[in-house]
Amino acid sequence: MIKDTYNRTHDYLRISLTDVCNLRCFYCMPDEEYDFTPETRLMQVDEIEHIARTFIDLGIKKIRLTGGEPLARKDVGEILKRLAGLPVTLTMTTNATLLHRYIDVLEKAGVRSLNISLDTLKTEKFLWMTRRKQFRMALDNINMAIERGFHVKINAVVMKGLNDNEITDFVKWTKDTPVHVRFIEFMPFNGNKWTSNQVFTWQEMLETIGSEYRFERLEAKPNDTAKKYRVPGHRGTFAVISTMSAPFCSGCNRMRLTADGKMKNCLFSKGETDLLSALRRGEDLEPLIRENVLRKAKGLGGQMDEDFKKLDGDKIDNRSMISIGG
Ligand code: GTP
Ligand code: 5AD
Ligand code: SF4
Repeated sequence: MIKDTYNRTHDYLRISLTDVCNLRCFYCMPDEEYDFTPETRLMQVDEIEHIARTFIDLGIKKIRLTGGEPLARKDVGEILKRLAGLPVTLTMTTNATLLHRYIDVLEKAGVRSLNISLDTLKTEKFLWMTRRKQFRMALDNINMAIERGFHVKINAVVMKGLNDNEITDFVKWTKDTPVHVRFIEFMPFNGNKWTSNQVFTWQEMLETIGSEYRFERLEAKPNDTAKKYRVPGHRGTFAVISTMSAPFCSGCNRMRLTADGKMKNCLFSKGETDLLSALRRGEDLEPLIRENVLRKAKGLGGQMDEDFKKLDGDKIDNRSMISIGG
């Protein structure tokens, strides 16, 4: 079992497979020229399997594959096959635009739930936000995944004045469709020009929904990032992820690996441990993993102790979201 100094058990690993993405969401991918990780510095299939097995021996129960866009990696099928047999819940966060190519492989690998990023239900806004024309593809693939029985959660990053006017449309979607929408507070990462006045807080989200719907709170699991709700009678649910205005770090069970094999103990942590280089040198990874977790701050990587309204996004020392994997 992996514990930190605050007695939090860490049993969830998020592995980024690539920092490449086929979309260009402005809040995730920095505007300036971004240097994608060269192939040789990415964890290779054998290395991913080895690292995953090491974490499983240390007691992890769940692996989430992230990116960039994990399905943009050419050997993602092989990676899924390798991880399929391991005693761990395997899942993925994707933008769904390539899902039609991999849905069978995902199913065969035992993946039962998918978290899918979709911030708007409008074609034009999708084009503006992602700088790509894949809205129809994403939506068709989402519907396909739901029809095939996957548990689908939609991640919608809400930004004030941009898509907060679509919140109730997303909730409407949950009426006849078993889809689980999560509204996420906008977070600061390198290059995404975050300012506190763009944050639409979870309270504002609930007020907006409350103006059209009556809803009830659902029970959450101890390590959930989301507070969950349902409009009575709706087939799906909605939830809010309140990282900025109401952090949930006391229940954190997460560790992260970037596509170049660096371990991060928090979404906002600075100190990374280069597990991939250590593996290539033939070193034992276990002490490095334990040491990394023992350095974990109480919350938000120790970087955002003040009220989020007073935060200067430019002062936060981190990677860009595309190179962390969310
Ligand atoms: P589940 O495993 O289904 O609970 O999903 P998840 O919320 O762990 O992961 P997902 O990749 O769907 O991320 C949804 C949103 O939550 C994104 O905006 C993530 O950046 C954010 N998120 C994921 N993990 C963490 C975390 O450990 N801390 C914080 N603060 N936010 C997180
Ligand atoms: N703030 C909040 N969530 C973000 N994501 C990407 N960038 C941000 C941000 N700046 C979300 C994506 C994806 C998840 C892994 O993280 O929508 O679903
Ligand atoms: Fe865990 Fe860091 Fe996320 Fe808080 S911000 S829940 S400590 S990963």
